Amino acid sequence: MHFELTDEHKLMRQMVRDFAESEVLPSTKERDEQERFDRGLMFDRLAELGLTGIVFPEEYGGAGADYLSYAIAVEELSRVCASTGVTLSAHLSLGANPIYSFGTQEQKVRYLKPLAEGSKMGAFALTETSAGSDAGGTRTTALLDGDHWVLNGTKIFTTNGGEAEIYVVFARSDRNAEKHRGISAFIVERDTPGFTFGKKEEKLGIRSSPTRELVFENCRIPKANLLGEEGKGFKIAMQTLDGGRIGIAAQALGIAQGAYEAALNYSKERKQFDQPLASFQAIQFMLADMATQIEAARLLVYQAAFRASAGLSFGKEAAMAKLFASETAMQVATDAVQVHGGYGYTRDFPVERMMRDAKITEIYEGTSEVQRIVIGTSVTKG
Ligand code: CAA
Repeated sequence: MHFELTDEHKLMRQMVRDFAESEVLPSTKERDEQERFDRGLMFDRLAELGLTGIVFPEEYGGAGADYLSYAIAVEELSRVCASTGVTLSAHLSLGANPIYSFGTQEQKVRYLKPLAEGSKMGAFALTETSAGSDAGGTRTTALLDGDHWVLNGTKIFTTNGGEAEIYVVFARSDRNAEKHRGISAFIVERDTPGFTFGKKEEKLGIRSSPTRELVFENCRIPKANLLGEEGKGFKIAMQTLDGGRIGIAAQALGIAQGAYEAALNYSKERKQFDQPLASFQAIQFMLADMATQIEAARLLVYQAAFRASAGLSFGKEAAMAKLFASETAMQVATDAVQVHGGYGYTRDFPVERMMRDAKITEIYEGTSEVQRIVIGTSVTKG
């Protein structure tokens, strides 16, 4: 068992860290305040660095790297900007990966390749007003009419919504089938007539990442855009989310690492009672807990990523990684604000943003409660 990263992984971390610190960080605060997505910086530059398709084979425009490299990239981006981290994660894990895993050769050439190369951005549309944690409650419909599927319904909370060109959309294709069995997955291009965008969410955190409502009104898509088998959409969504949760766990890990480093640096600089804060045991204990939780989260995230690349089962491990890393991010960011005292509560320091950004990692791609369902089901079955 190795606990040391390979030279390739170390180089990947250094490359993404250099990019994140020199190019992403300078505008993180302003983009958060203005709720502004910067496609050139937050996506096109990632494509130039080979990150938008990092895990896919080179024949489909990818870099042929492993899931650990991907997790490290999301971690490093999120250490300075959680919105940039989730842009990559939603694009790659949720938009591109189901096409890689379930698409036909034709779909891979037509859709996966531009996604992996980063000339197009991907997104995933599962959630509806009455189908959040209960993903099987999907009400959007898909009816076959000649050579086309006709989509009707509204999806909410779509990360990269509006910006992405290619959407994996889940809809009920068989009204008579029992709940999750009647759902299918479809690939929908942004400019398809009948596909429009509704409300853009105003959020507590990850404010520089667009979250949008998608509206389908008699939207006709070619029959060939069915992804995977008809009626297997729920399983495609679940398997996609297993991988997506590694991305969000890595995002949470990066937020926690960023908050910890900010608290550590501040505690060494700030003096009270004529001593640096870091010399007080109360502060040291907080820093000790942060460092320990982050290390444990990192081992869980990297283990899930390793299993995904090795072709081993990883659904339970991804859920554990996401559960633990997201709760770590929330705790560490909250404590980082505490270490900063009154200054931590102001926008002059980054920790208040990190605390706001951390919260979503306990909610999207399955709440902490859903992760416990996934883990609980796994450990009790059989
Ligand atoms: N892989 C493959 N198949 C799976 C699976 C998995 N990980 N999990 C479940 N299944 C299968 C089951 O084996 C079962 O199959 P059969 O019909 O053959 O028996 C079927 O799917 C139904 O399983 P369940 O009965 O367990 O399903 P359920 O309805 O009780 O739901 C759940 C379980 C874990 C709560 C699930 O619904 C879930 O994960 N919900 C959360 C959804 C979620 O994460 N939403 C976030 C959307 S994306 C987002 O956040 C926006 C964004 O852009 C970032």
